[in-house]
Amino acid sequence: MLKGRSLIEPGNFSIEEMDSLFTLAEKIESDEHHLRECCRGKLLATLFFEPSTRTRLSFEAAMLRLGGNCLGFADPGSSSAVKGESLADTIRMAAGYADVIVMRNPKEGAALLASRYSPVPVINAGDGGHHHPTQTLTDLLTIRRLRGAVKNLTVGFCGDLKFGRTVHSLAKTLAYYENITMVFISPEELVIPEYITRHLQKLKIEFSETRNLEESMPRLDVLYMTRVQRERFFNEEDYIRLKDIYVLNAERMSLGKEELIVLHPLPRVNEIAVEVDDDPRAAYFRQAKYGMYVRMALLSSIMGVI
Ligand code: NCD
Repeated sequence: MLKGRSLIEPGNFSIEEMDSLFTLAEKIESDEHHLRECCRGKLLATLFFEPSTRTRLSFEAAMLRLGGNCLGFADPGSSSAVKGESLADTIRMAAGYADVIVMRNPKEGAALLASRYSPVPVINAGDGGHHHPTQTLTDLLTIRRLRGAVKNLTVGFCGDLKFGRTVHSLAKTLAYYENITMVFISPEELVIPEYITRHLQKLKIEFSETRNLEESMPRLDVLYMTRVQRERFFNEEDYIRLKDIYVLNAERMSLGKEELIVLHPLPRVNEIAVEVDDDPRAAYFRQAKYGMYVRMALLSSIMGVI
């Protein structure tokens, strides 16, 4: 069904297609030998023009666990981009070497552009402050595994909602699920972009915007914390003023429901105190592992080997 398809932004895959990925990911999680050698002979190119730990490592782990291989770079300084090579040229070349490309780039729209030049599928691993659809697959699988289903939930997003691409992708996608209410918690300067709120309004999704985390805590089923995206700020002063505006600590956690789950795409800076890690509701490290399973499901589906 997904064979040969690219994943650039939310909406590229239907809810049914995503649900079948989650079912497959759950099967892989429960039986680590499932799909073991199915990508033998396949090559994944990871082109990371921006730093990454989890996304790149989980994609590489996924491909290696499927029996395939990986090539690529994690530091744009070591690629020909520094010599002035265009993205279109880099992509055409990489597509000649690999069967699928995963790319992260600081420019919004870069993944879409890459997919236009690539004869092999392109997976967007983050394009600037725009989208990060495989993090959304990770987030949704985590919610499904820990809350049973992605429906009837109040989801709070907290932190840098302006530049946080994981927030944009997740909010846009959650809008297609049943009975989801969203609460956007951010300072005035970092509110959720209008193109997202317009999308929610169009789909008649209930949402609110607030500055206050404490007040929001008691009503949330899922709290999605995010770091302030330093690299997308125009000046350091604003970053310093805003960076510690929300810190989730044990005291604030005590205001939350017993069945709350706390997610974070990671990396965390100061926005979640380390003391919260021991709270059973802290799900962010489990979330990172689900990211590998869902990427195994994604790669095997896109490669058409299942
Ligand atoms: C996120 C990203 O790169 O957008 N990280 C990730 O992929 N897990 C979040 C972030 O960098 O803050």
